[in-house]
Amino acid sequence: MAKIAPSVLGADFSRLAEEIADAERAGANMFHLDIMDGHFVPNISFGPDIVRTIDKLTDKFLDVHLMLSQPENHFEAFYKAGAGNITFHIEVHPDPAEVVEKIRSMGIKAGISLNPDTPVDKVLPYLEYFDFLLIMSVNPGFGGQEFIESTLLKVAAARKFIDAHSPYTQVQVDGGVDGNNAERIVKAGADILVMGTSFFGSKDRKRLVQKVKSFEQTSDKQ
Ligand code: DX5
Ligand code: ZN
Repeated sequence: MAKIAPSVLGADFSRLAEEIADAERAGANMFHLDIMDGHFVPNISFGPDIVRTIDKLTDKFLDVHLMLSQPENHFEAFYKAGAGNITFHIEVHPDPAEVVEKIRSMGIKAGISLNPDTPVDKVLPYLEYFDFLLIMSVNPGFGGQEFIESTLLKVAAARKFIDAHSPYTQVQVDGGVDGNNAERIVKAGADILVMGTSFFGSKDRKRLVQKVKSFEQTSDKQ
């Protein structure tokens, strides 16, 4: 069964408390929080203060996605703000084994992400250090972009590797995920779907969540 992580970037920030409460009622498993520095990606989003605000609004797990050129300078601030997981990009730390220890030492989960142009082989050797592999299915920086179909091949390759070598790592897919492509993404091997625009723009979020949660991986054995 797939899990849903609404990306708060797609929410109406003027009604943030209502948006978070409604997402919980709809069945969201966790919240995905996109942090952008205007350097690693062209856009700027929000920082630890907003993460702390969201942490006060929900007991759900906060999955923090750092799109930053120097993520390690900010691990502690996001940990203190309530992050349950911190994900950084392989493009800024091609050998992430040492950096991930800084997250682990704080006692929270760690994730590694890769952009659409980065081959999946770059992250596979390090997956044993990570709880989450966040596969970007758009070029990061903005919500509301179109899903890049070729990333499905990466999802399938990661699934195969993880089943054989790193069974505790969960595969997340982020960018352009909606009610139409979700089934193919889960079938390819995703455990968690990040959904921003499609989730917060949905007229019936509960129904969307029920539908997406009903999808099973092709390799699901239960
Ligand atoms: C893209 C972000 C995504 C984004 C997802 O840079 O990492 O998490 O907010 O939003 P949608 O679902 O609108 O593509
Ligand atoms: Zn993200």
